[in-house]
Amino acid sequence: MLKELLEARLAPALKAAGAPEGSPVALTVSTKAEFGDYQMNGAMGAAKRLKRPPRELAEAVLAAADLNDLVSEASIAGPGFINLRLRETVLEAELEAFETDVLAPSAAAADAHRVVIDYSSPNLAKEMHVGHLRSTIIGDALARCFAHGGWTVLRQNHVGDWGTQFGMLLAFLNSLEADEGDRAAEAELADLEQFYRRAKARFDEDPAFAALSRETVVKLQQGDPACREAWQRFIDVSLSHCEALYRRLQVTLTREHVHAESAYNDALPGVIEALRDQGLLTQSDGAQCVFLDEFTGKDDAPLPLIVQKSDGGYLYATTDLAAVRYRCTTLKADRALYLVDKRQGLHFKQVFAVAAAAGFITGPCSFEHMPFGTMLGEDGRPFRTRAGDVIKLADLLDEAERRAAALVAEKNPALGAEARTEIAKAVALGAVKYADLSKHRSNDYVFSWDTMLSFDGNTAPYLQYAYSRIQSLFSKAGLAPESLKASVKLEAPQERALALVLLRTEEVLQQVRDQGLPHLLCTHLYDVATAFTAFYEHCPVLSASDADTQGSRLALARRCGATLRQGLELLGIPVVQRM
Ligand code: ARG
Repeated sequence: MLKELLEARLAPALKAAGAPEGSPVALTVSTKAEFGDYQMNGAMGAAKRLKRPPRELAEAVLAAADLNDLVSEASIAGPGFINLRLRETVLEAELEAFETDVLAPSAAAADAHRVVIDYSSPNLAKEMHVGHLRSTIIGDALARCFAHGGWTVLRQNHVGDWGTQFGMLLAFLNSLEADEGDRAAEAELADLEQFYRRAKARFDEDPAFAALSRETVVKLQQGDPACREAWQRFIDVSLSHCEALYRRLQVTLTREHVHAESAYNDALPGVIEALRDQGLLTQSDGAQCVFLDEFTGKDDAPLPLIVQKSDGGYLYATTDLAAVRYRCTTLKADRALYLVDKRQGLHFKQVFAVAAAAGFITGPCSFEHMPFGTMLGEDGRPFRTRAGDVIKLADLLDEAERRAAALVAEKNPALGAEARTEIAKAVALGAVKYADLSKHRSNDYVFSWDTMLSFDGNTAPYLQYAYSRIQSLFSKAGLAPESLKASVKLEAPQERALALVLLRTEEVLQQVRDQGLPHLLCTHLYDVATAFTAFYEHCPVLSASDADTQGSRLALARRCGATLRQGLELLGIPVVQRM
């Protein structure tokens, strides 16, 4: 990593210049290319602590630093920034093994760290809808990025399969079976959304049915075999709907990653007991609650986390406390990431704080809610159909494919129908996922067909297109990319700029994992594609002046293509050879 190369020289120099032990080098990418490639900001912070003039400390750092073989220019600017420009020979050397060292998954680090990623996690009472799209897409991209970085990834699909709605749904299923027969009841389950709506309507208008629903929940939770069996059938149907979508979305979740709310059922009494033992429980209005000083509501009134209702029932929070314990103790996670809507922010703050107070978090495991905002329609309101219904994911993807097929046909009319369909599928999937991934996840984002399917700007089609252009470069050269032996020699400024961006890939992937922000990878790939476009415009490849130049340029293009392919794959987006 370029950054590490520089840091290894700058850290001792900072110390030699008199900075306190452990002072951060604070190396960042230069804000402007004219300044250099990287800038060190750490001299200013250290000078402040030493009460020394920052520029003077910066001078001392440069005097002490052994940078000559790495850097061609080093200068001090402003209040004490150190600007650094790397030597081309360093970039060329780093590019040699770039594809194997950076782009290939790092086997060396395998099993070093364990990360739990809680994502998708729909409620099985209903069909998965666009609200779960964000968690699924962002979580899956993170899972891929962590796996690529050598982490052991423990995917946890914390599906909602327990709780009061299930009483209603099972009572409804039973009544359908009694009235219409098993077959008809099965058929009704094909449309879960509809099924839920009908059950709910019945629940609201028929008091006898409502009472039956409540009895059914109790029976279910007590383990009544017939109830459990009907429930299991219901869950299976619902999960198979989810799985069909995962496959279509090319999401890596499978049945083995489902660790449903019901799986924690037996652990819930133990959670309450442990909280009681720790002296954390308070009875309030008949319910068992935990009050922590740091949580207050309106008028500074203490805010409880309710863990058991007065009727003895457990809550969402109780299950999450059990899940924290499980993830820490059984799964031995170093980090646990929760990809859940930002409206659940307080819930997770409370759960993590209570879990810590209760001693459920043992060892250095860090629990992190990674919130995301709402998906909005172009009218700025939550994304819905014209009739105001929630949009089903499957319908959304159908529409994406229709639109993509029309676009691909327009762009490349010569394509046969089969090729067009395949490309349209990749473009549609890429567009929908990338539109979501490319924005900072905690913001709301506006779902717009035209923007996401555009071939210009920071979109998946633009990146997929850049990749396919590189592939066609090789096919025009009559060369299989892997057979190329040439090394990169950097001459034109556009070549250097492209090399520099490519060599930042590892740094970016590290940031994506540290902060759980896949949009950083999107921005990076967009920078790669933009740098490639500039290179391609200024540096002829197929009509290069000599064979060496052509070889070097092809070698650079190959690394660029490999970065786009690998980067898109980490985002869960396929590439195509031609478009
Ligand atoms: N099923 C929940 C929902 O749809 C999300 C669960 C998130 N994960 C968790 N451990 N609470 O709102």
